[in-house]
Amino acid sequence: MPPHSDGVGAALQIDGSAVCLKAMFRLPVPDDLHLHLRQGPHLANYARDTAAQFGRALVMPNTRPPISGPAALREYRRQIVTACSAYAFEPLMSFKLAPDHDAQAVHALADAGAVAAKYYPRGATTNSEDGIEDLRTLYPAIEALQERDVILCLHGEDPSAFCLSRETAFLPRLEELVNRFPRLRIVLEHVSTADAVRVVRTLPQTVGATITAHHLVLTLDDLIGDLLNPHHFCKPVVKTPDDRNALREAATSGDRRFFFGSDSAPHRRADKECACGCAGVYTAPVAIAVLAGVFELDCPGAGDAEQPLWVRRLRAFLCENGAAFYRLPPARGELVLAPEEWLVPAAYHDVVPLMAAKRLRWRASRV
Ligand code: NCD
Ligand code: ZN
Repeated sequence: MPPHSDGVGAALQIDGSAVCLKAMFRLPVPDDLHLHLRQGPHLANYARDTAAQFGRALVMPNTRPPISGPAALREYRRQIVTACSAYAFEPLMSFKLAPDHDAQAVHALADAGAVAAKYYPRGATTNSEDGIEDLRTLYPAIEALQERDVILCLHGEDPSAFCLSRETAFLPRLEELVNRFPRLRIVLEHVSTADAVRVVRTLPQTVGATITAHHLVLTLDDLIGDLLNPHHFCKPVVKTPDDRNALREAATSGDRRFFFGSDSAPHRRADKECACGCAGVYTAPVAIAVLAGVFELDCPGAGDAEQPLWVRRLRAFLCENGAAFYRLPPARGELVLAPEEWLVPAAYHDVVPLMAAKRLRWRASRV
């Protein structure tokens, strides 16, 4: 095993001795505030994997064609709701900011029910060739977001910087935005560095950040430290053990600015296991179980009579902080977290998930 890796799953796998005496826990059904569902024949499979464990999700708009206008947004929501009709599942819709968006376009999208706008720098990630060259050209549209209280979600990387420095290079843009639009709620998505955690902590409460499950357990060693593992390749790229530790500290701290967004991003096996493989890690079916393992390890305190500290902190990260930032009503329904060993399938619908063929010791299911 590479020296700086804690071996994905090794720390989270069952250790035989510790399993049997654990209790089962109930949480409100959680929210995933950053999710890719794609379009077309696979949408229903991906959507149901999420709806089996989450009550709401903020659906990303980087489909082909993108969700950038009101008609596309309404139609995409209809498709997701239809696919998930067996579940009480609410898709929260976002739209992709386009270079020609003005205030009027934003008003039309807000009227169609968009809760968030997503900024993709051109060329930064999957399907971002039509992204934005210079964020400042969009200031009239961003002014309208502030006016309508639509949240701005940022893919916070500067694609012109060295790949491991792209997030850090973007952070001055975030500070500029906060200064210029003091009432705008902004989410820095899938933070991957200690730098981003530090900067978010210095900013006002209008700024939040999502953290994925995979950035809490992977480092660059899990991607390229031994044999190349394309299923651990995503944007922003997973980074150093210090970065991962800073993310774990932020996620498990209870700080209301940090909340869960899976960035679960399915790409079929052939699109990952090839030259020029796509960026994205599929985590929807495993994310909650992985998070439970991380929080259990990192929050050993006693807690109160009802729930141990790690469960209370997990509940804040997964069910409370994001919902509060997005001003969502209380979730309807519950999730049961059971101390039950299970083997993660090698693939779901031809997509290799995080922890494929590994054992996890918590199982999450909606009740
Ligand atoms: C995402 C995807 O595949 O759509 N990929 C990723 O590596 N995270 C896009 C994104 O969120 O950057
Ligand atoms: Zn994403």
